[in-house]
Amino acid sequence: MKLQSLRARSRDCSLTDDALRSQVDTSIIQNYHIHLELLGANCDKYPAKQHVRRVAARLGVSHGLIYLEGKPTTYLDDSDQTVPFRQRRYFYYLSGVDEPDCYLTYDIAQDRLILYVPDFDLRRAIWMGPTLTVDEAQESRYDVDQARYYSSLSDDINRWAAENNEHYPIYLLHASEQPTGTAANLQFDAEQLQPAMDTCRGVKDKHEIDQIRRANKVSGLAHIQVLRNISKMVNETQIEGIFLDTCVSLGAKNQAYGIIAASGENAATLHYMKNNEPLADRQFVCLDAGAEWNCYASDVTRTFPLQGRWPSDEARDTYRIVEKMQEECIKRIRKGVRFLDLHILAHVIAIEGLLDLGILKGGSTEEIRKCGVSRVFFPHGLGHHVGLEVHDVSEKSIMAASGEQEDDSVLVPPTSRSPCTFSAPTLEPGMIVTVEPGVYFSRLALQNAKQQPYAKYIDFNVAARYIPVGGVRIEDDILVTDGGYENLTTAPKGEKMLEIIRRGQ
Ligand code: GLY
Ligand code: MN
Ligand code: MN
Repeated sequence: MKLQSLRARSRDCSLTDDALRSQVDTSIIQNYHIHLELLGANCDKYPAKQHVRRVAARLGVSHGLIYLEGKPTTYLDDSDQTVPFRQRRYFYYLSGVDEPDCYLTYDIAQDRLILYVPDFDLRRAIWMGPTLTVDEAQESRYDVDQARYYSSLSDDINRWAAENNEHYPIYLLHASEQPTGTAANLQFDAEQLQPAMDTCRGVKDKHEIDQIRRANKVSGLAHIQVLRNISKMVNETQIEGIFLDTCVSLGAKNQAYGIIAASGENAATLHYMKNNEPLADRQFVCLDAGAEWNCYASDVTRTFPLQGRWPSDEARDTYRIVEKMQEECIKRIRKGVRFLDLHILAHVIAIEGLLDLGILKGGSTEEIRKCGVSRVFFPHGLGHHVGLEVHDVSEKSIMAASGEQEDDSVLVPPTSRSPCTFSAPTLEPGMIVTVEPGVYFSRLALQNAKQQPYAKYIDFNVAARYIPVGGVRIEDDILVTDGGYENLTTAPKGEKMLEIIRRGQ
């Protein structure tokens, strides 16, 4: 047995336990005690060093200092209570640190990542528990070259600047985030770091994919728990309560975004978050809720009836349209595909379905698509990146169109992280995107549509019958792989979902 070579191999984080075991001929070692150590390996640590190297490579420079501030402890207005801590995502990406009041620097030429932790404060330690020590931070917790106390930060930056800053800048995320207590007239660059980081964050590595998979696993279990109990519930509050309870009990203390538990017509409000209305007589619940795992998001929507059967033909038919929109788009996900084309395909399927139901009328699918009327029923984008943010950053929006000349009838105005700008990115392996088509019957949107030129394509009498359905959205998180895609979302949908409601378990 070549223990040395096994040790060396064991540094490779990609080796699974099974793969490791398969390299050992167990028949000859049954009487020996084998002790495997991961020498100097960072397998369990957040890959901060790998991330900062990628960012530096993207910046395309060989010298310079990256300086980032983590989220400080802050207080509620006029209160001695702290704002719930949420680490800044750019800081987390380069450190893996989910603690307040930290800072980092990365000397690009020296390939040296330093984490600065809060100075020891006895009162804070007694009230809140001890903050990180440099030994703990450096040795056991984080993938950094060195940890130092905050009190060293300004001197360290001054020292670096005296030797380098004449020729090389200090890279900041925002111009307003210059280090304090440093020499005057330092040279900063606050333009290039954020785009470089956005590009890197748009493509996830194995560690990040694992976190998003875990977040989805928790969300899936929480969605199941709601389905098991929905037939006994009487108010939207209970849906939110049981979802949260399940996530927190499973160790996911934070949600990736505010829970949307919208019953009946409330589902037509895309980001409905009051979650406090009675469920009686409601046809569907649209539950858009996703747990966070180690700062990584999941984003999951399921739409389901209160009992395990379709509450009306209108509800069933709407569900079927959205189901088809989602299935047809997901199966086309692969590298090189332009996400915007899937968004357009989803509109075409919605239009065909709404024509079949008689809600749309008086034109061909193409005519109707071009006039933009389908946005009355499907007003948002097909999806967005998911990562450290639920609407994650990337080099370019995946909902971007390729040129001014492009038909923009089904594009969505820039309201979030998925604005429509004029560039044309395609999907790459390692991207994780949501595919979340929806069809909604909003009184407000229909009222407004009556004044629009495309009003002639809507049969408002038929549409009125669908208003109690509210809306259907189905949302999964899809990893783009080399060979196609992997659906990371485990929450049941369709018939499996109805079956859980029926059985109550
Ligand atoms: N949960 C927000 C969204 O689906 O984008
Ligand atoms: Mn989403
Ligand atoms: Mn969502």
